[in-house]
Amino acid sequence: MNTRVGTIGTASPLVADAHPMIDPFGRAVTYLRVSVTDRCDFRCTYCMAENMTFLPKKDLLTLEELDRLCSAFIARGVSKIRLTGGEPLVRKNIMYLVRQLGQKIGSGLDELTLTTNGSQLSRHAEELYDCGVRRINVSVDTLDPDKFRKITRWGDFAKVMEGIDAAQKAGLKIKLNAVALKDFNDAEMPELLRFAHGRGMDLTVIETMPMGEIEEDRTDQYLPLSKLRADLEEQFTLADIDYQTGGPARYVRVEETGGRLGFITPMTHNFCESCNRVRLTCTGTLYMCLGQNDAADLRAALRATEDDALLHAAIDEAITRKPKGHDFIIDRKHNRPAVARHMSVTGG
Ligand code: 5AD
Ligand code: SF4
Repeated sequence: MNTRVGTIGTASPLVADAHPMIDPFGRAVTYLRVSVTDRCDFRCTYCMAENMTFLPKKDLLTLEELDRLCSAFIARGVSKIRLTGGEPLVRKNIMYLVRQLGQKIGSGLDELTLTTNGSQLSRHAEELYDCGVRRINVSVDTLDPDKFRKITRWGDFAKVMEGIDAAQKAGLKIKLNAVALKDFNDAEMPELLRFAHGRGMDLTVIETMPMGEIEEDRTDQYLPLSKLRADLEEQFTLADIDYQTGGPARYVRVEETGGRLGFITPMTHNFCESCNRVRLTCTGTLYMCLGQNDAADLRAALRATEDDALLHAAIDEAITRKPKGHDFIIDRKHNRPAVARHMSVTGG
């Protein structure tokens, strides 16, 4: 482990290359999302094919290497880190990384969080809190156990609910994420909203993004959130609010429930102008945009020397290539996704 990383993690003025990351459009990169594994114990139909080929384990960065990379990003101004996957909690010994990163909260890092499908949450909730995690996102697209099994293929709804209970008991704030799917959960949204708000959780709905080959037709799944919002407004009073979590969601307050509802609209509304994030995969590839194929390899620079100078140079070079925005369009003629990799490679 490079001890210098620890020093620059506390923003030591001695390190000349610890300048902030500003992209060509003047946006500061302060948010790092880390996909710690591409594996998952679910097979959500909009996310994966049933028979997925995952990365060979030997291609993965070790948890120590991921920690070193995260430290380098913190030294460069990243104040929020989200662990994602695949399912982050299926990575072996993941709590080691959570603990290491948790120790950086307060010295450069403001927030450590994760996005999980909840399947393993009951086992890990208390330890997550103990490591300094305070808020997590849990993906739940439906409250109907049969539909849940259908959409996740392999998921057990009761287990996820157990996970949510355990997380709330441990003191973790939860935001539910639901992907809006035409003719699947659109009619159920008012119920999902009442459930979330009734238990003190925010709810965020997400438009499906065309990422990776799946077995279904994406145009059949796609539901614009403008339509969903209009439907909800028949039952609820939605007031736009300024609330920001550092992510791309736009929030409203629901007057009837008193809770917050977020909309993530990559398809109908360009959420790129205020983009503050980059995405690191478990092989050390940095994606500067979720919706583009361009990427930078940080693994070579990481492994070349113990010194982080090469790594910082590779990060700088990558940031100069951060694009203005994504080009998500569904290639309807060939039913091909706009981005070839699955969401589980870079995390949602
Ligand atoms: N489009 C939109 N959201 C997706 N997710 C996974 N795949 C897609 C997709 N193609 C969601 C998951 C989870 C979050 C990490 O991303 O449901 O809530
Ligand atoms: Fe797993 Fe999340 Fe993809 Fe579902 S959406 S298969 S839970 S990574």
